[in-house]
Amino acid sequence: MRFLTYGSTNIDLIFTVDHILAAGETLQSTSLTKSAGGKGANQSTALAKAGAAVFHAGKIGSDGLFLLDLLQSWGVDTRYVRTYDGATGQALIQVDRTGQNAIILYGGGNKAITVDEIEETLASFGEGDMLVLQNEIVHTDTLIRRAKERGMQVCMNIAPFDPSVFDLSLSMLDIIVVNEIEAAALGRVAQKSAYEEILEQLVAAYPGAQILLTVGAGGSYYGFGNERHHQPIIEAEVVDTTAAGDTFIGYYLASIGRGLEPKEAMYWATKAASITVSRSGAMASIPYASEVFG
Ligand SMILES: Nc1ncnc2c1ncn2[C@@H]1O[C@H](COP(=O)(O)OP(=O)(O)O)[C@@H](O)[C@H]1O
Ligand SMILES: [Mg+2]
Repeated sequence: MRFLTYGSTNIDLIFTVDHILAAGETLQSTSLTKSAGGKGANQSTALAKAGAAVFHAGKIGSDGLFLLDLLQSWGVDTRYVRTYDGATGQALIQVDRTGQNAIILYGGGNKAITVDEIEETLASFGEGDMLVLQNEIVHTDTLIRRAKERGMQVCMNIAPFDPSVFDLSLSMLDIIVVNEIEAAALGRVAQKSAYEEILEQLVAAYPGAQILLTVGAGGSYYGFGNERHHQPIIEAEVVDTTAAGDTFIGYYLASIGRGLEPKEAMYWATKAASITVSRSGAMASIPYASEVFG
């Protein structure tokens, strides 16, 4: 199985500050880190590190060319990433001394993707291939519909959640991945509901899709038809949970691509994510297959 991640490719600028800025305030940052980000790029990285054949598609400006080198170094095929005259997507992240953050997102290239580029890219994919989506680019509904027309399977991580996702052709999806917050919003249930209850709601609302619900330290849940699974976490010393969800998705899908059953795929995804949370950083913290599968 080949994977096509059509998704966000961002430059993350991380400023450490004493406290999150208030209106009118000017603050010195004690450190500045520039790193590669975007849920799409993270998921492509996780798929590649897990050993899957993965193509990343999207759009960046000349300021983001280093991202292509990085993705390629992990084995991601970047031939479908377009460049344009504007800026690459950016996340301006403040992290305060307690670890709280505040983030400004600028869509940049992620919002400049065109339908023509999508058509051109999908023309090289079809049956036996899987499209992997998140909610950080434009024309997502076109992507879902055109990919299904071509016989592809489609997995969407409904993140970040916003109410406009209800306008998407969600009933056409083969796999829906959500965390507890996204799941409650998507299922229109109270966030304090039991995870099993939220899962049932989503299984009922989207019967054509396999539902994967990840709940941080509570592990992950799977529901499809009459099949249900729960996979607890593998304990790890938590350093930085950034990219845990993206690692989970990449390793889950790569495992499915190797012919494993959902229950087994959840185990490997959980093992990979437990390594990611034990390291700092996003893409760089995602483990290689040799560290996960042994
Ligand atoms: N503290 C933790 N210790 C070990 N594994 C974790 C921890 N937090 C998350 N994980 C693993 O990563 C997966 C995804 O994390 P989660 O927080 O649900 O994703 P997201 O980042 O999308 O909110 C979890 O299902 C679990 O397997
Ligand atoms: Mg979480």
